[in-house]
Amino acid sequence: MQTNIRPESMERITTKALADAFIEQEIAKVRAQVGDKKVLLALSGGVDSSVVAALLIKAIGKQLVCVHVNHGLMRKGESEAVIDIFGKSLDANLVYVDATDRFLDLLAGVSDPEKKRKIIGKEFIEVFADEARKLDGVEFLAQGTIYPDILESIKQAEGKKAVKSHHNVGGLPEDLKFELVEPVKFLFKDEVRVVGEALGLPHAMVYRQPFPGPGLGVRCLGAITRDRLNALREADAILREEFEIAGLSEKVWQYFIAVPDIKSVGVKDESRYEGWPAIIRAVNTKDAMTATIEEIPYPILHKITQRITSEVAGINRVLMDLTPKPVGTIEWE
Ligand code: XMP
Repeated sequence: MQTNIRPESMERITTKALADAFIEQEIAKVRAQVGDKKVLLALSGGVDSSVVAALLIKAIGKQLVCVHVNHGLMRKGESEAVIDIFGKSLDANLVYVDATDRFLDLLAGVSDPEKKRKIIGKEFIEVFADEARKLDGVEFLAQGTIYPDILESIKQAEGKKAVKSHHNVGGLPEDLKFELVEPVKFLFKDEVRVVGEALGLPHAMVYRQPFPGPGLGVRCLGAITRDRLNALREADAILREEFEIAGLSEKVWQYFIAVPDIKSVGVKDESRYEGWPAIIRAVNTKDAMTATIEEIPYPILHKITQRITSEVAGINRVLMDLTPKPVGTIEWE
């Protein structure tokens, strides 16, 4: 019988040697579990699903079918990186689904944050299920469940209330019954990263900052429009680039841009220029339950402001959110 409690005897994975031993052991387990059957995986490109994909590719090669759903709410270059690393370098069996229109059409005009989250979560499952039904011989579903996810579900089962309805994959329709393959379910995030590096995944992917399931959907505040979403994506890419250059990308736990649905008056080329503000959020935390604000040096903030306001169409101001959690949550929605 499968247990959901990490065995007390399990050593923490802190070195490459320990990660290699873990990988060998999980490869043997997965092979014994799935035999010659196919395994399906929703590959978002996040750390957990990427590590599971790399491990399963090593264990069962093309028997693993990775489905990458681009919901149109990914950050700049993210889907392309999944295709490059998994489709090309690792030669994985990768199905790429561009579902941008499905998601953005459903989200048009919806401004309530919880409604947006529900739509994104539900549609994600439907797109993934549509792909699963097209495939023959799949009996297993691999998931990047990690130990904090299990601890969180135990907490919720005990009746503790969540602030937001987080979405990850789960709850597939009744007609799709798969046995779960969860090779990293007893690992903490730092251990998953050590395993990811031992599997040869790029450092940038393994040490990637957390990115919420609903993606830029909860950062394009209020009702999402394609032009504001594009402005957000471009501004966010500049922020990430400048944090990388300044050596902040691995120092700050999470950093991103949010763009609200308001315009202010500005001036550009001596003419009135109405645009949205780009809001910088840069926080540090251990467990995302509370968070503090990173103090970014002013010259870096000036450069980011200068670049965003001159390079991104539709943005005419840059603001900085100085609110710790509590009282602000990390995301705005
Ligand atoms: P909040 O905004 O609740 O965020 O302070 C805490 C952390 O959770 C991330 N987050 C999500 N992660 N699915 C996820 O996997 C989600 O729906 C989701 N919503 C928020 C957020 O980015 C932060 O790191």
